[in-house]
Amino acid sequence: MVNRFFSHTELKTDKGNTRLDQDNIPSHIAIIMDGNGRWAKNKGLPRVAGHYEGMKIVTNIVKKANEIGIKFLTLYAFSTENWKRPEKEVEFLMKLPERFLEKELPDLQKNNVKVRTMGDRSLLPANTLRAIEKAVKETSDNTGLVLNFALNYGGRHELVEMVKEIGEDIAEGDLRPADITENLISERLLTQGLPDPDLLIRTSGEIRLSNFMLWQIAYSEFWFTEVLWPDFKDENFVEAIKKYQQRKRRYGGV
Ligand code: FPP
Repeated sequence: MVNRFFSHTELKTDKGNTRLDQDNIPSHIAIIMDGNGRWAKNKGLPRVAGHYEGMKIVTNIVKKANEIGIKFLTLYAFSTENWKRPEKEVEFLMKLPERFLEKELPDLQKNNVKVRTMGDRSLLPANTLRAIEKAVKETSDNTGLVLNFALNYGGRHELVEMVKEIGEDIAEGDLRPADITENLISERLLTQGLPDPDLLIRTSGEIRLSNFMLWQIAYSEFWFTEVLWPDFKDENFVEAIKKYQQRKRRYGGV
């Protein structure tokens, strides 16, 4: 049976962006980068080898996104649930932002990329935190692609924190329940200042959201692929955008 969730033309993709509709480039793309562990297992390698390979793909996709003219790219690098993984794997995953930024920061800078993160920073190891803060600070004036790493991020956690904050404001008399609007909520989420994702990509054949951007993806287009993240090529990325461009977004209208 044909599975309508998956792209059937993955193998027939073209390498260039020439056929992308330049007037309909998604402004914000969010990616759930999944399948690192399976990629490694398939090759008889430890799981962390998949994560390392996955980091290299991040480099490629950031470059490609910038080249295509994407304005915001959000990458799910570590979820609030990922702490449940074996200690060594968590340790490895936590070192990746630092390794990535150590190597890529000069290029990000050169390409006018602005780094930001979302998620609870309080549990991040000191070195990771330092690397992130340095990158965020040094790229803060850049005006190109906004590269948003979701690190120790969970959609429900984000919503709980937002509700607590609103509750406190009401208790202190700074806000009335009647003042609560969708905009007010959006402004109090970790994506403050970012538009909602136009396109959500998930690799590795899993068709679920895994606690990712629960509020923000209300009207996002979804694109799932069976390709494992370490195998994800620029062509796959372009293919996802092409599929997006073929969709008719109705936002509940007709
Ligand atoms: C899910 O695959 C992937 C992750 C939990 C980590 C994603 C991280 C990267 C791709 C690298 C991040 C890079 C930077 C620069 C921070 P999985 O391990 O769940 O794969 P599986 O489902 O096959 O086991």
